[in-house]
Amino acid sequence: MNPLQIRTHFPFFSHHPALAYLDNAATTQKPAAVIRAITTFYEKENTNIHRGIYPLATQTSLKYEAVRQQIADFIHAPSSKNIVYTSGTTASINLVAHAFLAPRLQRGDEVIVSAMEHHANLIPWQQICRKAGALLRVIPMNRAGELDLSVFRKLLSPKTQLVAVTHISNTLGTVNPIEEMIRISHQRNIPVLVDGAQSAAHYAIDVQALDVDFFVFSGHKLYGPTGIGVLYAKEQHLAGMMPYQFGGDAIRDVRFEETTFADPPGRFEPGTTNIAGVAGLGAAVSFLKNLDQAAVQDHLGQLTQTALQQLQSIDGLQIIGTAPRRTSIVSFVLRNVHPHDVATFLGAAGVAVRAGHHCTQPLMDFLEIPGTTRVSFAPYNTLTEVERLVEGVKEVQAFFG
Ligand code: ALA
Repeated sequence: MNPLQIRTHFPFFSHHPALAYLDNAATTQKPAAVIRAITTFYEKENTNIHRGIYPLATQTSLKYEAVRQQIADFIHAPSSKNIVYTSGTTASINLVAHAFLAPRLQRGDEVIVSAMEHHANLIPWQQICRKAGALLRVIPMNRAGELDLSVFRKLLSPKTQLVAVTHISNTLGTVNPIEEMIRISHQRNIPVLVDGAQSAAHYAIDVQALDVDFFVFSGHKLYGPTGIGVLYAKEQHLAGMMPYQFGGDAIRDVRFEETTFADPPGRFEPGTTNIAGVAGLGAAVSFLKNLDQAAVQDHLGQLTQTALQQLQSIDGLQIIGTAPRRTSIVSFVLRNVHPHDVATFLGAAGVAVRAGHHCTQPLMDFLEIPGTTRVSFAPYNTLTEVERLVEGVKEVQAFFG
């Protein structure tokens, strides 16, 4: 796989030829095809969905629904009816929290999350638990960043109403054993939500093989636009959920006295949705389909291993997150230098990384650090960029040391 060839698909890099963009876990760059799909929609096709019956509007509705099928195929969902468009991972999780879990959560019930959750997969559960008098239980992890499955097994009980766990830690890069966690949870008939924000782009997701109840991800982390995301849910769960937000297009029949709602997934998509975003997401999924994913994995593995080896050899640098099953996210701390200083210095040298708590404050508390500097790779990154990163970190160290 040639990263320089992949780079040619991304107009961003012709505007920033000297930038080493290593912040892909925050958001990925967009291929020209994605940008084109959005502008084409606005320039040539802009009509609302599910409302107009003139040809252009009908065409827009058909395209919108065709992308839903494309996404269903992408994650091997049984039907496009399992796919709800949302504004992103956070909205998908809030939808499940409020429309699925909140109505059934009783005082004394429990919801299980892990020690490494992003705030988006923590706060919605915490808040509905607080309201219901339920308890949030946390699967602990070791210092390497691996979840303790023996404790997880013990946490599961008749009180557990849901397990919500991230597939890949956005901070540590750990790939969690979700297959096993789903299997163990299902032995007790407990539904599982998997946060796929960091996994959907480059891991083959088969929601049926996983037998996962809910799988959520964002468009913008898989080369699509911001403001569009996906909730996959099993049919029986969607069928039992009432709308979380109310409005037009999500209804069957409205009287002043009463409203009946549309079938899922439309029931959960009130108002005019992000139609252009859906067009962009469709183009992003097509782009991903055309990538040789095995070659991408090899390349990302090479970048990650090189970064780990070279960073580790820097005196005073500690890698945060050393689980053997990991992805192309590398976090580190540098002795006596705040992560914000590292990222500011690297930024000035044209190397873009994220620094801070990465929306995982409880994880930072557990590790007893204020934050990390985080590097995250995409297929368009090169070994030269890894070298620039490493050189930059050495310079930061020399400057502050
Ligand atoms: N959740 C995104 C990140 O990890 C924004 O950077």
